[in-house]
Amino acid sequence: MLPYTRFTLTPTTPTIGAEISGIQLSGQLSDETMSELRRALLEWKVLFFRDQTIDRSEHRDFASRWGSLEQHPFFKYTQPGQSEADIVTLAKDAMTGGVENNWHNDVSWHEFPSFAAVLRAVEVPPVGGDTLWADTGAAYELLPEGIKERIDQLVAEHDWINSFGKHMDPSTVAKLRPQFPAVRHPVVRVIPETGRKVLFVNLSFTQRIVGVSEAESDELLTLLYRHVHRPEFQVRLKWRTNTIAFWDNRTCQHYAASDYFPARRVMDRISIVGDRPVGTR
Ligand SMILES: [Fe+2]
Repeated sequence: MLPYTRFTLTPTTPTIGAEISGIQLSGQLSDETMSELRRALLEWKVLFFRDQTIDRSEHRDFASRWGSLEQHPFFKYTQPGQSEADIVTLAKDAMTGGVENNWHNDVSWHEFPSFAAVLRAVEVPPVGGDTLWADTGAAYELLPEGIKERIDQLVAEHDWINSFGKHMDPSTVAKLRPQFPAVRHPVVRVIPETGRKVLFVNLSFTQRIVGVSEAESDELLTLLYRHVHRPEFQVRLKWRTNTIAFWDNRTCQHYAASDYFPARRVMDRISIVGDRPVGTR
């Protein structure tokens, strides 16, 4: 394993999560630092940066270095003072309780689900409001061989209709449907840079496994979700103001614990466009 020379990396668990210290993401990051960050992201799936002095435009500049930015189609936040220029910034509403308290890969119902997200804690409750991530590569590796063989070539349907769609009126759903049809992605996704296999089904957005009976789809998805959600695959972050989490949305799932309302939890998120998931064949 190559060492990291541009910052200090401290693993949070044996396979997922690492705290990076010694750099400010608002600064001019050299190509060498970016290259080490990319390696760290691939190795640890989610990186934590404490005490970051960074404003929204610097946050956006950092995210832009990883690819094109994307806007969540159903969360067009309009916080006071937020302008069109902030459109890629998803700020969690200060006044609502839990959202995202279900395991998911962000927008897996997109044809091109996010590559990554950069999430900054703007305001956090005194206690609670942690985020958890689960390592879907480690989970895949520790599946029984017979299950791997059963799922390696399968494809699953992902959709927003049973999550976001449930909170919309029927006319809104009908209007959005042509723009966002259900999509199909491999159940086992291969990460091009590493060749690593990861599970790419999630409780929030995966509807069914295609080409098998409903009973078999239910059986497999239940088994896979229970497996991915084991604590051995997880890391849990206690936020502080100006903590940043930067995760690879391809190689881990996440869950925002909704245990703090009516305390406030305000986050700024910027997501980066990803590729079409590739399967094992
Ligand atoms: Fe999310």
